[in-house]
Amino acid sequence: EISAVVSAHLRDVPDFPSPGILFKDIGPLIGDAQAFAAVTEHWRLRHQHRVDAVAGIDARGFIFGGALALALGVGFVPVRKAGKLPGPTVEKSYDLEYGSATLAVQRDALEPGQRVVVIDDVLATGGTARAACELIEEVDGKVTAFEVVLELAALDGRAKLSRWPVEALASS
Ligand code: PRP
Repeated sequence: EISAVVSAHLRDVPDFPSPGILFKDIGPLIGDAQAFAAVTEHWRLRHQHRVDAVAGIDARGFIFGGALALALGVGFVPVRKAGKLPGPTVEKSYDLEYGSATLAVQRDALEPGQRVVVIDDVLATGGTARAACELIEEVDGKVTAFEVVLELAALDGRAKLSRWPVEALASS
């Protein structure tokens, strides 16, 4: 069962990166070859023949999304923090729990109508995921699903993602 594998390989780190925050560390999951492969294989079986590209969200979505793109035999699109990608780019700002941030995608990252699964490690308030999915649409992709390793269910990030299918491998 993939949720049990994921849950067994996530580490709770209290007071990181600041006091009062309980950080969910994916280090043990990606550091374990079998667990990392199990995650990638679960997603490969769900999405093979259904997507033309994988998008991953800066930064930990690059790790999981890159592995999935290779497994599926499709290209990878990085959804990066603004200011890192050479232009032309499309950018979108969104609210975080504290403050705001901006993500960017290269304008020519996709061919029109390409089907894209969007990958990240954690779904919290959902602002990051929604901005990433909207950016993929703005560069003419079709988001088939948003996939995340861990969902922090109490924050109800899914409420911001009602336009797309959402799957979390584990929930806490
Ligand atoms: C974390 C996480 C998600 C996002 C989820 O990234 O990896 O991308 O927060 O939060 P949300 O659902 O409330 O928007 P972070 O912003 O810490 O960036 P990083 O991966 O570069 O550390």
